[in-house]
Amino acid sequence: MKSSSSPLLILLALLPISYATTFHITNNCPYTIWPAATPGGGLALHSSQTWTLPISTSAATSGQIWARTNCSFNSAGRGTCLSGDCNGNLYCKSAASPPATIVKYSLNQYGANDFYSISLCDGFNVPVGVVPTSDCGAVRCAGHDIMRECPTELRAPGGCRSACDVFKTAEYCCNRVGKSCWPTKYSAFFKSLCPNCSTYPEDDPTSTNICSSGGDYKITFCP
Ligand SMILES: *[C@@H]1O[C@H](CO)[C@@H](O)[C@H](O)[C@H]1NC(C)=O
Ligand SMILES: *[C@@H]1O[C@H](CO)[C@@H](O)[C@H](O)[C@H]1NC(C)=O
Repeated sequence: MKSSSSPLLILLALLPISYATTFHITNNCPYTIWPAATPGGGLALHSSQTWTLPISTSAATSGQIWARTNCSFNSAGRGTCLSGDCNGNLYCKSAASPPATIVKYSLNQYGANDFYSISLCDGFNVPVGVVPTSDCGAVRCAGHDIMRECPTELRAPGGCRSACDVFKTAEYCCNRVGKSCWPTKYSAFFKSLCPNCSTYPEDDPTSTNICSSGGDYKITFCP
């Protein structure tokens, strides 16, 4: 037993470390939600429970996290949700069906930065807040007023839809060929209640937060 520095230990120390960013996803709502993540899947989360979701950042990676409401799944993980459904799967591999309040992130991007935002581009279903563990910008969309004040034409079971989702026009969906887009009265409605959130597809400059990579994030539904 003369040396503890075996060649194997030295080799292990020289291997690249695999990094991860952990999302601590808490349900602070007084009801069960089924948070979903791509990548990451999804599960049932009762009131005051937390889902710990590590995402590998050994390469630049992007994803989305949102909540589903009023779900019912069978033992095979198939079922439906009132809002935020992903093709009827408990374990999501595809995007939320609107309306859903969506946290969008891009980790370990150029310059070792993380970018994240709360998007209301697909409407609103559950209030959410994002708080980085490092000292950079928190953002939240408490949004209780969104449910109360949602324009009649956007109202849906379980949430408030986006104008693009309802009317599907180029103006609301920002897909006029060769043209940029502007806020509309509907995106302005969401913006007035959640000013730091993205409310139409080109809304990013006012709503994208930047942190140095390497920290973790607390995502709280009903913050
Ligand atoms: C959805 O779930 C909530 C909380 O449990 C409940 O209050 C509400 O009535 C449900 N809505 C529908 C349409 O089932
Ligand atoms: C929105 O951003 C402004 C400016 O950065 C900040 O002062 C404010 O606290 C933020 N509000 C919310 C609700 O996150």
